[in-house]
Amino acid sequence: MAHQVQPLPFSKELDGISKKTVEIHHDKLYAGYVAKRNEVEESIKQADASKANQIYSAYRGLKEGETFAANGMILHQVHFANLGGDGKPQGTKVFDAINETWGSWEAFEEALYATGMAARGWAILAFDPSDTKLHLYAADSQNQGGVWGCTPLLCLDVYEHAYFIDTGSDRKTYIANFLKNVNWQDVDQRFTAVAM
Ligand SMILES: [Fe+2]
Repeated sequence: MAHQVQPLPFSKELDGISKKTVEIHHDKLYAGYVAKRNEVEESIKQADASKANQIYSAYRGLKEGETFAANGMILHQVHFANLGGDGKPQGTKVFDAINETWGSWEAFEEALYATGMAARGWAILAFDPSDTKLHLYAADSQNQGGVWGCTPLLCLDVYEHAYFIDTGSDRKTYIANFLKNVNWQDVDQRFTAVAM
């Protein structure tokens, strides 16, 4: 079955992230990744595999587009599911694990801001089964920076389309706004499903 667009998992207006931004981001950009993932998967079935070449080939273009579209779909689904909450992590297991990993909540936030300012695409809180620890990973595009086997728990989209309408070039204020709206119960469910 073809990949389906998941509906926006919250109906309330976010604090500091406008309805217009959310609509464009979800309905046009995220939905575009889902449509293109379906398209590229179909195209690969029809492609001339005998002409595959690492320097240039249509097959190479399809394979590169395949991971870009797939990760674009997956990371945006987690991103939207992470939103619509009250930004309060207290009482969750992931809150305790974050405090243990970074030493304090403030130290985690500092590291998240830094990762979000350093990345060109995504700052991702992930559970890494290779060392059974939490990590903050940076990705410059949909198909760069991912670590195999990890589960993304919190996906902070730092592409300009996520904030330029609302805060212009002020990415730091956007990250603060993102944190005000995080649904930590959703993050916690993702964490306990893989770490407990
Ligand atoms: Fe995005």
